[in-house]
Amino acid sequence: MVFDPMCGSFSRRRFVRGGALTLAALAESRSLLYATPEIQETEDNQEGPYYKPGAPIRSNLVEKGMPGTRLLLTGKVLGLDGKPLPNAEIDLWQADANGQYDNIGFRLRGRVFTNDSGLYQIETIIPRHYGAGSYPRPPHLHVKVRKGDGPVLTTQLYFRGNPYNYHDPSVRPSLLLDLKDNGGNGKSAEFQFVIRTA
Ligand SMILES: [Fe+2]
Repeated sequence: MVFDPMCGSFSRRRFVRGGALTLAALAESRSLLYATPEIQETEDNQEGPYYKPGAPIRSNLVEKGMPGTRLLLTGKVLGLDGKPLPNAEIDLWQADANGQYDNIGFRLRGRVFTNDSGLYQIETIIPRHYGAGSYPRPPHLHVKVRKGDGPVLTTQLYFRGNPYNYHDPSVRPSLLLDLKDNGGNGKSAEFQFVIRTA
């Protein structure tokens, strides 16, 4: 029997095409099962170089005399089925009002857990943009969100309308915070996380 290279090549193409179809079908079935126009899994975003595990559990990251506009961030953590997740962890780290991260201690780093209704609240400040050159990073909050030992969502939240957003390819429309006045005490914003739990 003579080996037919065309046949081998054809087989490999079939295999690759079949794999692509399977992936597409999986993606479609997942979206049919879990995603509605109201419930979309929160987009991930890069971790960046400054994450430090072991941040203290605290909902108020503002220290006495800390410069910067106060920011009250609230919202819910939901599963892909849209149900609130109690006791989900949000691990937040960010730059300060000068665009600096604390890489020695835990200033502007903290973890909070959602309550029985899946609600969380974090008091912090609005970070400054940072980075030199033509493409400074826009102001952003880094977060890792998880429920128990489930998968970790690592993402970043940005601030709608900030001029530095337009230079940064990581900014996603779904990750923009809308700032509101918080009754004379800085700003507030809401963000709903939708995460996988398994
Ligand atoms: Fe950052």
